[in-house]
Amino acid sequence: MASMEAGVTPAKSRREPEGRPSARDKYSVLLPTYNERENLPLIVWLLVKCFSESGFNYEIIIIDDGSPDGTRDVAEQLEKIYGSDKILLRPREKKLGLGTAYIHGMKHATGNYIIIMDADLSHHPKFIPEFIRKQKESNFDIVSGTRYKGNGGVYGWDLKRKIISRGANFVTQILLRPGASDLTGSFRLYKKEVLQKLIEKCVSKGYVFQMEMIIRARQLNYTIGEVPISFVDRVYGESKLGGNEIVSFLKGLLTLFATT
Ligand code: GDD
Ligand code: MN
Repeated sequence: MASMEAGVTPAKSRREPEGRPSARDKYSVLLPTYNERENLPLIVWLLVKCFSESGFNYEIIIIDDGSPDGTRDVAEQLEKIYGSDKILLRPREKKLGLGTAYIHGMKHATGNYIIIMDADLSHHPKFIPEFIRKQKESNFDIVSGTRYKGNGGVYGWDLKRKIISRGANFVTQILLRPGASDLTGSFRLYKKEVLQKLIEKCVSKGYVFQMEMIIRARQLNYTIGEVPISFVDRVYGESKLGGNEIVSFLKGLLTLFATT
């Protein structure tokens, strides 16, 4: 004890072996929610379990957009159960869109890494240790979950939804050649300062945000690692991706094509 007070290098700041998370690393998970009352307790439980078992330092930031189904009350309960250092509820008054929900959440993040994922159990926390390992492997700026490589895949979507997703990826691949296989996915890990830079550059607000982030990342020469993931369609509740989002995706894509 005395030696620590006397300023002897504490274990924490000793050099960690290459390729392993250090004790200083902290992972901030951003969970945007809109009507996810049934899913939230499960996803949070799985996240806490995953982080406890793997020993990484973490926090979970819930960005609820005034969900009419009472998601916010559930989040408040979870904050009490797991502690307000682990679960941070940072809600907004009304539904303001997915892109700005991430921006809002990131303002409150204290980690040096940010993990973005859906709250509806389509993204399984079991992949997070693989993301972290991948990131450390080559000190990637971004690690992106991919449904379109290796063992990755999509389960439970109907043909229409599969075509929309494949189509969006295909058209974007051709127009913009982004150097990543899953452009519209939203299960990713970022270095915090990288995410901050990217957000400053991004103009879109809705679902197209994910795709723009990867395009901008390539422009700025950030390195991207990929981890195959299985995306499983939600059981509870419904997707918020409507016709409007598809139209704004196409508009966003054309804007990017014209401006990059
Ligand atoms: N706070 C907030 N505000 N959260 C939102 C909003 C919003 O306006 N809209 C959606 N969410 C939350 C949902 O509650 C969920 O946790 C997550 O964002 C994803 O929304 P879903 O409605 O489940 O999206 P999806 O399953 O149709 O689409 C998924 O796959 C797409 C790619 O195929 C998402 O991962 C998309 O980001 C992705 O582009
Ligand atoms: Mn979903």
